Amino acid sequence: MAMRINCSIQNTICLLNPSLFSLHSRISHLKFKPQLRFSQNPSRGVAFFCTNATNNGNEEPFVLTTPLYYVNATPHMGSAYTTIAADAIARFQRLLGKKVIFITGTDEHGEKIATAAMAQGSTPHDHCNLISQAYRTLWKDLDISYDKFIRTTDSKHEAIVKEFYSRVLANGDIYRADYEGLYCVNCEEYKDEKDLLDNNNCPVHLKPCVSRKEDNYFFALSKYQKSLEETLNKNPNFVQPSYRLNEVQSWIKSGLRDFSISRATVDWGIPIPNDKTQTIYVWFDALLGYISALSDDQEQPGLQGAVSSGWPASLHLIGKDILRFHAVYWPAMLMSAGLSLPNMVFGHGFLTKDGLKMGKSLGNTLEPNDLVQKFGTDAVRYFFLREVEFGNDGDYSEERFINIVNAHLANTIGNLLNRTLGLLKKNCQSTLVVDSTAAAEGNELKDNVERLVYKARIQYENLSLSSACETVMEIGNAGNLYMDERAPWSLFKQGGYCF
Ligand code: MSP
Repeated sequence: MAMRINCSIQNTICLLNPSLFSLHSRISHLKFKPQLRFSQNPSRGVAFFCTNATNNGNEEPFVLTTPLYYVNATPHMGSAYTTIAADAIARFQRLLGKKVIFITGTDEHGEKIATAAMAQGSTPHDHCNLISQAYRTLWKDLDISYDKFIRTTDSKHEAIVKEFYSRVLANGDIYRADYEGLYCVNCEEYKDEKDLLDNNNCPVHLKPCVSRKEDNYFFALSKYQKSLEETLNKNPNFVQPSYRLNEVQSWIKSGLRDFSISRATVDWGIPIPNDKTQTIYVWFDALLGYISALSDDQEQPGLQGAVSSGWPASLHLIGKDILRFHAVYWPAMLMSAGLSLPNMVFGHGFLTKDGLKMGKSLGNTLEPNDLVQKFGTDAVRYFFLREVEFGNDGDYSEERFINIVNAHLANTIGNLLNRTLGLLKKNCQSTLVVDSTAAAEGNELKDNVERLVYKARIQYENLSLSSACETVMEIGNAGNLYMDERAPWSLFKQGGYCF
């Protein structure tokens, strides 16, 4: 009896903590099949996503995106963070039976990339190929289960951006004007002087913004002020966590200004339709990657085809520094083009080193490859999900990393796995010889685990990833306690069998 129940628990742990999936794949030689059974308890609050249905082929897919990463430099742990979180969410949705389209990719145009390529003595084209590949390699090393990888230099993307631009133009939302302002090349954004530090330093990159004056094409963002206000009022879950919604609402309230969506001085970009002297602003271009990623490679690329393959996105996961682009500019652009808005934008916090955002421009990064080589993929994935409350900033410390991984993965999960699998191997030829579901009926541990499984499900749905990890550890602890109490090893010694 003890044995059967503990094997079920162990399955549950692997299934419920998608961040530990590689661990799960290592025990797949066992002859029992993991089962996922979530109890339904509608009285326990409303989850953000509708996840109960199993996929019957007609159901809307769960479309989840990470930002498209700039290819100015190779990825660091800060860039990997969003993708690890997205991967855990994608795996969770798949476990619920949803068809998931998990989109990631690279943002390859603009001044920042062209300058980085030049500094490497390379062409933008070769530079982008190299760094984009480094992202793919890292996702492989981190066991990231993405479905689509879009590059903004893909020809299908370029075609869709041009079509989208033409729609917005036809809707009367693009006009030409002069612009003068302070530009942060690292953010690829004109800044308001009031938001800058001393000497016009950008608050994120701590580098001076440069004065720019250009004749550009503008997007009439101000026209969408009211519609955006209404959208957020009607749908407060659109921006999460809720404290970020307040931030977005106050930006909108303070008055939206039209923004420039072309560059006269940047060659490395998609040319403006009917004006080859300007290229499309890198953000206007990159946001459309979320749609062009959906486009089927076999078909003639087109906006409608891409949209009908899964748009709107269920969830955009982003860092808090790019919230304005996703929660203000992007919805307005979509409204202008007559397309649906994504269901939710979640802005997480930063991984920091000594309180400062980890990033290439500050030179304080942590190399994910070094961590993976030293500690293994599961440990890296688990640590960042568990340690950083999703939404808030989190500081990295190697001491903490080692302590958490030892306590949670080695002593709790590892111990439970070794005890259950070891006993099964030694005494039962690694098989379950009885029906574990029937045998566990009425057992207190089973009831407890079912309750915890339900709790973890709600936490995953609410994107409380750290709490979900905690609940999974509760299941592990309950399993270990049960083993201690029942001591099945002595039952075996006394000549007992698997039940
Ligand atoms: N290219 C744009 C996104 C375009 S999406 C259509 C961009 N790229 S980025 O490479 O600079 O950043 C990508 C994501 O990585 C952002 O969400 C950013 O917040 C995140 N991170 C970069 N450094 C980070 C940390 N130190 N910590 C957590 N996330 C961080 O912005």
